[in-house]
Amino acid sequence: DMAEKAGYDHFMLKEIHEQAITVENTLSVKEEIENIVKDLKSIKRICFVACGTSYHAALTGKYLFENYAHIPTDVILASEFGYSFNSLDEETLTIFISQSGETRDTIDAIEMAKEKSKTLAIVNVLGSQATRIADYVIYTQAGPEIGVAATKTYIGQLICIYLLAAFFSKHHLKDEVFANTLLRKINLIPKLIEKILENEDEIKDLSLKYKYPPNFFYLGRGLAYPTALEGALKLKEITYIHAEGYAAGELKHGPLALIDYCVPVVVLLPKGDSYKETMNNLSEVQSRGGDIIAFTSDVEDLSDQKAQDVFEIPNDLGEEFEELFAPLTYIIPLQLLSYYISIYRGLDPDHPKNLAKCVTVG
Ligand code: G6P
Repeated sequence: DMAEKAGYDHFMLKEIHEQAITVENTLSVKEEIENIVKDLKSIKRICFVACGTSYHAALTGKYLFENYAHIPTDVILASEFGYSFNSLDEETLTIFISQSGETRDTIDAIEMAKEKSKTLAIVNVLGSQATRIADYVIYTQAGPEIGVAATKTYIGQLICIYLLAAFFSKHHLKDEVFANTLLRKINLIPKLIEKILENEDEIKDLSLKYKYPPNFFYLGRGLAYPTALEGALKLKEITYIHAEGYAAGELKHGPLALIDYCVPVVVLLPKGDSYKETMNNLSEVQSRGGDIIAFTSDVEDLSDQKAQDVFEIPNDLGEEFEELFAPLTYIIPLQLLSYYISIYRGLDPDHPKNLAKCVTVG
């Protein structure tokens, strides 16, 4: 068992550390992805369908596809798909995201969608059911993932989605500039992930400090919003702490009533369009006494008065691109935070209670 874990205490930690290589490997299927996009010339609308962590990858896709390829994009939970799929047609591409390729709700949804639309499955497990039913398949190159909480497969899914967005932008919108820039910059992600992982000890310290509170909020805007949802899901799954991911701007429409000095608030602050607005939301939290744990490249701006704790995300991509790629970097410390809080609470992150790696019942 120890040999399989390659010296790590848990599969989850090993898999968190395998994310730079997963990005590299998934980037190597670039050409296959471009060929699929070229084949899908008549697509006018995209509809993502997924569950759990895969749903958060899908939600990230909505921001990328709408902003950079100008394709209207919906995101539907697989278990809800059967209640709202009547508007699909042959100009719709339905994209299923599933690490296992066996999730019952997702498989049922592919069967339904196949009747009306083109279908593409983004899957990690070779030969799984989803890959046999969908019209097109893209494999995330993450290798076997053992930990119940998805980590490296999520990064693999995101890379596929970034590549799809780049190629849809190139072939549908004829925006070669965006596509080429994205394709060049994305090669810097593996190094950046390694750099973040070098600061694991800082996350350990944070985890020790924040292992007790029973409630957490995770806030982000734009592309950082799905990352906030995924960060909160990771915490719930393996620490059993109640955590809610929220779009930072929605805070004032309810959750603010719950914030006091007992509730830590994780805030994702990549530099870009959303930065200023998220900073304003941070003040709302602060005036209610909530502890702020900020993740940002602009450590100076988050002086002592603004946040209790700050974790730095290196801005090697340049300020202009930080927000675009934030989902691929900001999730890394959030995965580590959940992992170490789980360890400090004496739990087994690889085997969370009541959860299964693959849910084959509807
Ligand atoms: C289960 C797993 C999650 C996963 C979800 C969707 O709930 O515990 O980690 O995100 O299923 O799985 P899929 O294989 O379809 O991505």
